[in-house]
Amino acid sequence: MSNLSGKYAVVTGGGKGIGEAIVKRFVDDGVAGVAILGRNLDVLQNTAKALDPDGEKVIAIKCDVSDEQQVAGAIKVIMDKFKTIDILVNNAGITKDSMFHKMTNEQWNDVININLYGVYHTCKYVVPIMREKKYGRIVNITSISAFGNIGQANYSASKGAIVSLTNTLALEGGIKNITANCIAPGFINTDMYKAVPEEIIAQHVKRVPLNRLGEAKEIASAASFMASDDASFISGQCLVISGGGSI
Ligand code: CAA
Repeated sequence: MSNLSGKYAVVTGGGKGIGEAIVKRFVDDGVAGVAILGRNLDVLQNTAKALDPDGEKVIAIKCDVSDEQQVAGAIKVIMDKFKTIDILVNNAGITKDSMFHKMTNEQWNDVININLYGVYHTCKYVVPIMREKKYGRIVNITSISAFGNIGQANYSASKGAIVSLTNTLALEGGIKNITANCIAPGFINTDMYKAVPEEIIAQHVKRVPLNRLGEAKEIASAASFMASDDASFISGQCLVISGGGSI
């Protein structure tokens, strides 16, 4: 178990899938408060209620991270409630898979806007808070697709850019006791992954030495570690969690 007691966290895309598992793990590990951001308030509220029936620790905030003004507003609500932010997990992400030669501008832009601009927007508003308090843990969820994946030019580009951005945040943040790291999940058993055609899932699993898909909680345990003081001297790293497999 990691120790997150006394810490306040923000998790984007925290309503389901890997994000939900991270929020659950943070609560289990004693976080003082966690704000979950996403586009679907019903999903967020259901998750918040299931994990924190008293409504004391987990707050749900409707926020499309691709929209800077919505992010600015959400961070203000969180600061009013929690007074600080120690941990930022950028997990929100979508896929709109297509072979590159068939990819539309809409598919490209939607994925870049949510996956990459989403991280830019939250960091833009949270990094100054962390610099001021001289403490911060940024955990960005990228993907093994950052290294390229058939049908995912848009997603791969967004996830590769997140790795570069994170490394720069780590270099700039060190002097202010801010760490920034990435986690790169492989093929994980979530709703997002279930959209992949069955025959391609079979091909993917063949490339995983552990011979199965990963589970969201197997990403959440690493996210909690990266967000905790057990990882206080780890920064600018990208931890691949893929059962030993690569694209
Ligand atoms: N390996 C080998 N060949 C592949 C392939 C693959 N993974 N994917 C597609 N192809 C081939 C097809 O067999 C086909 O070959 P032919 O032209 O010779 O028949 C060609 O590429 C393209 O086929 P289509 O144009 O008919 O394909 P499509 O337009 O119907 O679908 C696709 C293309 C949307 C990319 C579909 O193949 C697909 O969904 N692939 C999965 C993409 C994927 O891996 N997504 C990961 C989602 S999980 C995630 O993103 C989370 C994470 O972080 C890892």
